[in-house]
Amino acid sequence: MNYKKLFKEIETELEKIEDLGEVATYIPELHNVDPGKFAIHLTTIDNQHYSLGNSNDKFSIQSISKVFALTMAFNLEDEKLWERVGVEPSGTPFNSLVQLEYEKGFPRNPFINAGALVICDILISRLENPKQELLKLIRDLCGNPDIGYCSRISESERLTGHRNTALVNLMKSFGNIKNVVEDVLDFYFNLCSIEMNCKELAQAFLYLASHGVNPLTKERIVTASKAKRINAIMQLCGFYDEAGEFSFKVGLPGKSGVGGGIIAIHPGKYSIAVWSPKLNAKGNSYKGMRILEFLTTRTKSSIF
Ligand code: DON
Repeated sequence: MNYKKLFKEIETELEKIEDLGEVATYIPELHNVDPGKFAIHLTTIDNQHYSLGNSNDKFSIQSISKVFALTMAFNLEDEKLWERVGVEPSGTPFNSLVQLEYEKGFPRNPFINAGALVICDILISRLENPKQELLKLIRDLCGNPDIGYCSRISESERLTGHRNTALVNLMKSFGNIKNVVEDVLDFYFNLCSIEMNCKELAQAFLYLASHGVNPLTKERIVTASKAKRINAIMQLCGFYDEAGEFSFKVGLPGKSGVGGGIIAIHPGKYSIAVWSPKLNAKGNSYKGMRILEFLTTRTKSSIF
């Protein structure tokens, strides 16, 4: 694949895209970002790097962080994990309450907010210091010891996190949250506040493009079977009630966040991160989705 030529074509395509998205406001701190920022960084499994735009600028990764939390919980709990959370697409917005009551506090998957809150609960039950252990995983995966939580963003979310508070209390009422609600929410808000840039994100997700092995350190992070399963959940659930659209248009396992980031994996080939803060109506980066669609269409390569 001539990625150099491809990135030239992406640069031209970007000029044609009118960004019709809106920066997230329900977490006030997320609104303090320059809406015109854009970055894209592709890392191949043999460590070639291609990028455009502000790929060294940090942004709040929000729900993308849920993949790292799932990785840790899946390693600790193995198949028992699926007694607490499902692997099915929800077809609902990421913070929906309705389905959760019908399904007696059992979240459809680990990427809707309810599912990620259960994952946080499990990590609090299983780990001495879950916050530090999660950071250690991400720092090792991207090779940057300075990756950290952003208290400005986690505090902003804590002050406005009424829906997540409702979700965790509803699940507690069904017995699917074991720890103190405030501790679960605190870990969750910090998890979502992690700041990374596109280069670090693309590097950190390479283990899912390399059948579970971190190509940087050759360390196995998850079994090949677990890597396959995490990619499958990303494919079906990574974009909530737009997962079908992302599969249809881009055709790669991926995960979005309301900070405007999207990560996508081409198993056996590369990991790619895009950042553009303005979101479409479903809460996924408007320009990010458009440019990834262009990339897999132009390269005629997706998992399908
Ligand atoms: O809990 C929330 O609503 C946010 N911290 C995360 C939501 C998110 O990133 C959804 N992804 N597109």
